Amino acid sequence: MIEERAPAKINLTLHVTGQRPDGYHLLDSLVVFAALGDMVRVEEAETLSLAVTGLMAAGVPDGEDNLVLQAARFLDPVRGARIVLEKHLPSAAGIGGGSSDAAATLRALSALWGVPLPRNCLSLGADVPMCLAPGAQRVSGIGEGALPLSGLPSLPAVLVNPGLSVPTPDVFAALKEKNHPPMPARLPALGDFGALTRFLDTTRNDLTAPASAQAPEIGTVLEALEDARIARMSGSGATCFGLYPDAAAARAAATRIGEAHPDWWVADTTLNPAP
Ligand code: C5P
Repeated sequence: MIEERAPAKINLTLHVTGQRPDGYHLLDSLVVFAALGDMVRVEEAETLSLAVTGLMAAGVPDGEDNLVLQAARFLDPVRGARIVLEKHLPSAAGIGGGSSDAAATLRALSALWGVPLPRNCLSLGADVPMCLAPGAQRVSGIGEGALPLSGLPSLPAVLVNPGLSVPTPDVFAALKEKNHPPMPARLPALGDFGALTRFLDTTRNDLTAPASAQAPEIGTVLEALEDARIARMSGSGATCFGLYPDAAAARAAATRIGEAHPDWWVADTTLNPAP
């Protein structure tokens, strides 16, 4: 049996800098991964099968709709394996759950079957390539251009989802201005919490306005994270993250928000954890 973690993907920044003729949007995004995530386990079997377990399994498809099975077929169209996906992350939530699951499946099955990882897996989803080697990176293009970033600190954080899924295509479609400025070509030193958060103050998630127009609860989530040093939406939402100077502050905020909003998904975690 081989197991691979499928960590939550967080867009610390997400600048939409243009649109390709095929409709896909060009991004400039600082991406990190959380200690928190789903888990993918694979073992040898005659035929390909998927079981979905875990606290967040409800509503997750276990058929061909699931990116995990599509990733397996992408790697080898005929080989079998028994795959168990343990869901801890909310789906369609802006934190790359499905993409990270697909990337973890590619890593696990490439080890199980002894085949190399695919060079290009963009066709599985724009976020899958960035999840293949989950570490801090600056992502450009529609998600395919990833430049690994070293030296970023670990970040105590709270993730909050108000219990809604916002379809990514709808959010991009509702974005009025498509040409926002990118981040500076050369990033400043981002080696500690102060430097990183000061830099984040100068950046944005350009999808916040169109996502909030469809799901006004996002505004309520950002208000609940008001005591965070940085409070921002990830991806196309609706999950937002708050960054805190230490783990105790993050835990206290998660407890407070969870008690005030028992129907929300609230988790304290570490972003960009030490390996
Ligand atoms: O590639 P993926 O299936 O994750 O993307 C879902 C949808 O989100 C796309 O069909 C497209 O409408 C939109 N999208 C976009 N620009 C991106 C990523 C996604 O317009 N960079």
